[in-house]
Amino acid sequence: MAAAGDEKLYLLVACSLLLLAVGCQASPLQIGFYHDRCPQAEAIVKGVMMDAISQNPGNGAAMIRMLFHDCFVEGCDASVLLDPTPFSPTPEKLSAPNNPSLRGFELIDAIKDALEAACPGVVSCADIIAFSARDASCILSAGKVDFEVPSGRRDGTFSNASEPVNFLVPPTSNLSDLVDSFVVKGLDAEDLVILSGAHTIGRSHCSAFVPDRLNVSSDIDGGLAAFLRGQCPAEATPGGNDPTVMQDVVTPNDLDRQYYKNVLSHTVLFTSDAALLTSEETAKMVVDNANIPGWWEDRFEKAMVKMAGIEVKTGDEGQIRKNCRAINYY
Ligand code: HEM
Ligand SMILES: *[C@@H]1O[C@H](CO)[C@@H](O)[C@H](O)[C@H]1NC(C)=O
Ligand SMILES: *[C@@H]1O[C@H](CO)[C@@H](O)[C@H](O)[C@H]1NC(C)=O
Ligand SMILES: *[C@@H]1O[C@H](CO)[C@@H](O)[C@H](O)[C@H]1NC(C)=O
Repeated sequence: MAAAGDEKLYLLVACSLLLLAVGCQASPLQIGFYHDRCPQAEAIVKGVMMDAISQNPGNGAAMIRMLFHDCFVEGCDASVLLDPTPFSPTPEKLSAPNNPSLRGFELIDAIKDALEAACPGVVSCADIIAFSARDASCILSAGKVDFEVPSGRRDGTFSNASEPVNFLVPPTSNLSDLVDSFVVKGLDAEDLVILSGAHTIGRSHCSAFVPDRLNVSSDIDGGLAAFLRGQCPAEATPGGNDPTVMQDVVTPNDLDRQYYKNVLSHTVLFTSDAALLTSEETAKMVVDNANIPGWWEDRFEKAMVKMAGIEVKTGDEGQIRKNCRAINYY
């Protein structure tokens, strides 16, 4: 009798250990991955980011968008940073969602140079993107968005310009297409609403919303539409005559909940922003984010960590690039 009881206990302990092991595998990144390998790593990234943002707050917006465009295509593996080569002539960065609007590649190079000088071959480019997006969030929110991001990502070796368009939906998208594109990556409608709040900073090229949002049937605020018609040529096209405007005209460089107030007052640039009001569920979230202090910041921290964990490569997968623009060939 006693023996049978012991066996049961043994089985219970074994099962718990198994569950623990499975749990660990499901979350392979860890906070402070570089504490032993390169103790200064996160401080170095933060130092470069503080300099860069003090010169131009757009550098912060650039890194936050970079994380999104990296993680949604081939996972958070810095595949978006790879330059064309004879063997891979059309990498992700040449695709329409990234080219020519995605910016910040030189800033990543500067961070990588600083890290290679301190700890050669140790810190992945994928982690640089995650750290710099985290630091940008903290700096541009004046410390209100302040979180730790787990690290240990490895860099990918594959990048194809045909892929981004499959995962990064255009700003003309309706709510169901937006939600679907998040669900495919393990995120949900609330993550969509929360992460869209990043459109409280940075810029957009006119071609992203002309003519879509400036036509007669658009719900955009009349005053903003008039302003945008003044800023944007009617024939704006990517790579052509295509000026940029601020996304948030109220507090353009503050990472704050102003975005949600803009959604409610129809002073947002994209159909994809306005679309958040087209279901009761997401509209309620917009109202809460707009009205409850601290609500958005708290959720944005968690959603950024979630996004930064999409399909990550760890352990023996991938490599640690020496140069973020090129894979190591040895
Ligand atoms: C949900 C679908 C989304 C769509 C359709 C979308 C679309 C866009 C577009 C068209 C631009 C303008 C780019 C330009 O013309 O220069 C932009 C900018 C930006 N997006 Fe999004 N976005 C989405 C989600 C996100 C997410 C999840 C994040 C990050 C959490 C994000 C962060 C940004 C930032 C920071 C900028 C400004 C970039 C800069 O100043 O260089 N976006 N987005
Ligand atoms: C990229 O994808 C396209 C379309 O699927 C394919 O034709 C091309 O061979 C791919 N390039 C590489 C380097 O895999
Ligand atoms: C959303 O747009 C897609 C086209 O991208 C369309 O097929 C779909 O019917 C639209 N859904 C709704 C609910 O309007
Ligand atoms: C006008 O803009 C709205 C969104 O602002 C869009 O739903 C609609 O399809 C556009 N119509 C035309 C004709 O471009």
